[in-house]
Amino acid sequence: MTQMPTIARQPDHPVAPQFPARWSPRSFTDRSLTMDEILTLLEAARWAPSASNHQPWRLVWALRDEPGFTAIHAALTGNNLTWAGKAAALIVVASKDTVLNRDSVEVPNRTAGFDTGAAWMSLALQAQTMGLAAHAMGGFDQAALAAAVALPGGHTLHCVVAVGEQGPVTALPEDLAAREKPSGRKPLSETTRHGRF
Ligand SMILES: Cc1cc2nc3c(=O)[nH]c(=O)nc-3n(C[C@H](O)[C@H](O)[C@H](O)COP(=O)(O)O)c2cc1C
Repeated sequence: MTQMPTIARQPDHPVAPQFPARWSPRSFTDRSLTMDEILTLLEAARWAPSASNHQPWRLVWALRDEPGFTAIHAALTGNNLTWAGKAAALIVVASKDTVLNRDSVEVPNRTAGFDTGAAWMSLALQAQTMGLAAHAMGGFDQAALAAAVALPGGHTLHCVVAVGEQGPVTALPEDLAAREKPSGRKPLSETTRHGRF
């Protein structure tokens, strides 16, 4: 019998259940993703808001057993190498650093990272709606990942997202199994202020 971790997160104030229910597990089953599922995940990211609707995010994806997946996986570092290879897909989240201004000059897009964060979260919540898990990883080798996806100049790598069906805790090595549970959050009093800092 598979043993799934209990979702026991309690928000301090009432919120839509998808927010505390989403979390980042490391165990994935062998289930593959269909092309339709991948397109649905990417479509969710597509509808994220962005400054002037520039949509600076760039997502590069590969399915398990594809050479692209192996190349992205090999660019991961630390513990990520241990568990992320079981994901059904790896999605590299990058952004274009500049936009064309009114004079057709490429200028820095200072909200590119912010907008791309919104796109990743849309994808993660879509995954959850589909009964899938999405786990972002900032632990990767910049040069190796850039080479793996042929990152063009003027782009920034943000993270790699592992997506798949959540697997049993027992499939993980002991050290990772011990951490396979939803984390808590700082109280609002630590991260928010009324009016000014
Ligand atoms: C940008 C980013 C980078 C992250 N990098 C890693 C990583 O390299 N390895 C990992 O196991 N988890 C990584 N995480 C997952 C976080 O540790 C996790 O989201 C956080 O602890 C909150 O837990 P939750 O997503 O389960 O709610 C990353 C998350 C984000 C958003």
